[in-house]
Amino acid sequence: MDKNIIFIGFMGCGKTTLGKRLSREINREFIDMDKYIEQQEEMKISHIFEEKGEAYFREVESQLVKELYNQQGLIIATGGGVIKNEENILNFKKTGTIVYLEATPEHILRNLEDDNTRPLLEGGDKLEKITKLMEERKPLYEKYADVKIKVGGITVKMIVEKIIESLEI
Ligand code: S3P
Repeated sequence: MDKNIIFIGFMGCGKTTLGKRLSREINREFIDMDKYIEQQEEMKISHIFEEKGEAYFREVESQLVKELYNQQGLIIATGGGVIKNEENILNFKKTGTIVYLEATPEHILRNLEDDNTRPLLEGGDKLEKITKLMEERKPLYEKYADVKIKVGGITVKMIVEKIIESLEI
C-alpha cells in the first residue's frame, strides 16, 4: 500500500507548488484541498469565509480530510489551518506521512505580498499578521510533522529531491 503524502505548513509556503511537482516526479495523484473545496462549493475560499464564515469552511475541510485519508497513494496539499483541528491530523496520520514545509514570516510575505486570496491576512499590516498567526501555529506544525523541510533559499527541484530522499520513495 502506498501511503499518502500530506503537505502541511503556513499559507504561501509552497504546499501546492511542491505537491504538484512531486506528483509529476513520482507519478502519483495530486489533490489540492482548497481547490477541491472551491470546486465543490462553487465559490472562492475568500467568498466562503465572507458569506458562510470560517466555522463552515472548517467543517467542509474536515469532511474532505475524512474522504481523503481513506484513499491511498495521494499527494495532498492542505490549507494552512488544517492543523487547527487535531482530528484532521490524526486521520491523515492513519494512512499517510506528514511533510511540514517550514518557512520564515519574511519568506511568506515575499510569496504573498500581492495576494488577496487569503482572508485571514487581509486588512492591516501583513507581516504582523503573518508573524502573529505563525507564532500560534508553528508549535502545531512542529508537533504533527513526520518530516520537516526548510524552504527558502533553495530551489523547488532541490526540495523535491530532499522529500524523495527523506521518504525513501
Ligand atoms: C488558511 C489557509 C488557506 C485556506 C484558507 C485558510 C489558514 O490555504 O485554506 O484561506 O487558515 O491558514 P493555504 O495554506 O493554501 O493558503
